[in-house]
Amino acid sequence: MDETVYLYKGEVFYFKDSPLKFDESYSYYPDGALVVYRGKIIEAGAYENIKERYPEALVTDYSGKLLMPGLIDSHIHYPQSEMIGMYGKQLLDWLNEYTYPTEEAFGDSEYAGRVARFFVNELFRNGTTTCMAYATVHKESVNALFSVASEYNMQMLTGKVLMNRNAPQSLMDTEESGEADSRELIEAWHKKGRNLYVITPRFSITSTHGQLISAARLHEEYPDTYIQTHLSENRNEIDSALELSPECSDYLEVYERAGLVTERSVFGHCIHLSDSECRRMAEAGAIIAHCPTSNLFLGSGLFDMQQANRINIQTTLATDVGAGTSFSLFRTMGESYKVQQLNGYPMSVFESLYKCTRGTAKALKLDDKIGSFDQGRDADFIVVDSTATPSQQMRKDYLERKGKWNLENKLFGIQTLGDDRNIVATYVAGNPVYQSDTCNHQKTGM
Ligand code: GUN
Ligand code: FE
Repeated sequence: MDETVYLYKGEVFYFKDSPLKFDESYSYYPDGALVVYRGKIIEAGAYENIKERYPEALVTDYSGKLLMPGLIDSHIHYPQSEMIGMYGKQLLDWLNEYTYPTEEAFGDSEYAGRVARFFVNELFRNGTTTCMAYATVHKESVNALFSVASEYNMQMLTGKVLMNRNAPQSLMDTEESGEADSRELIEAWHKKGRNLYVITPRFSITSTHGQLISAARLHEEYPDTYIQTHLSENRNEIDSALELSPECSDYLEVYERAGLVTERSVFGHCIHLSDSECRRMAEAGAIIAHCPTSNLFLGSGLFDMQQANRINIQTTLATDVGAGTSFSLFRTMGESYKVQQLNGYPMSVFESLYKCTRGTAKALKLDDKIGSFDQGRDADFIVVDSTATPSQQMRKDYLERKGKWNLENKLFGIQTLGDDRNIVATYVAGNPVYQSDTCNHQKTGM
């Protein structure tokens, strides 16, 4: 065990509570320090107050750079890493034309392992330290991702896709095999290290009612697992889901009847929900993963953040790669801002950042572990250069001249003009897992 105390100097920023509910919701120390010991946060605060308490600490100086909790991506498909940005289709055609053929390869462990390694490193390069990911229908695909995540001691949430109808034969399981394979994977990986299992019926079009019920049964058997699926993403998808379940009066009811709407269920997209569906989700404590780059790219629609906030549903931001067009959650926040502008809601930079850090951690019941710099949290953090591009530098000079180079403008510039170029370094459980080329530190973990 490494007994070194590490002290990182920089501009420390993290949320104490939700910016939607409190004025003083974040902590910000321009001349700050973060203290890490045995992979955990010991404290975060002003450098002047902290330094004398740790005379033995090994200091890394990131002065002028932001130190923030690692970003959390609540909905992403790792097997779709290589088919990002495919032209010309909307959801159902996109699945048939591009997605399913791509996912067929993941029964091969070696292949799955290669993509999983690319995926995890791409997350780190973009400042994402935790994700809730879809694998494929194959057990091998799940083994591959949990194995790579374990090498880095990364907080990983994933699971085997359940899919027993309306898909290519090679990608289908059955109610029985899907349940048995999921159980085997839960026993093998759930709560081993930082791995957490997510029961993953892809969506109602590709799972029979029987399979959805078997998924809910598994969750009852293992109540601290999670559930993820897709809900109300595309108009044709909704029509098709209701044709397949004529007894249901709306899409959410398909999942409700199976017992899948719980406080540990993450629903991707949720673009076309009625107020009634939103209220029922809020009552169940269910979680929305809003995926703006995907929604724009597939032409799915504009998510209504005001509706979700008004009805008090827990909402998180997510990339949804490979329908999403970027691994960067900064880029995703920027696109979320634009989507909400089209709805007449200029979402604050604090709201979007919260929904990629502490807000997501809280929704996932992991805020005692990740998403902030409170004492005892796992030391998953990122070092961010707010002026990594010429345009960001020019904008800073301008705002400085105007006397407006404040925290809000700084963060908004990262979200509006930023991406992986702004990530200087990424740490997972106290270990450096990514260092940019412009950073004068040795690259490790790659
Ligand atoms: N709905 C069902 N499967 C998928 C998928 O892989 N991506 C997206 N965006 N929506 C889906
Ligand atoms: Fe998705």
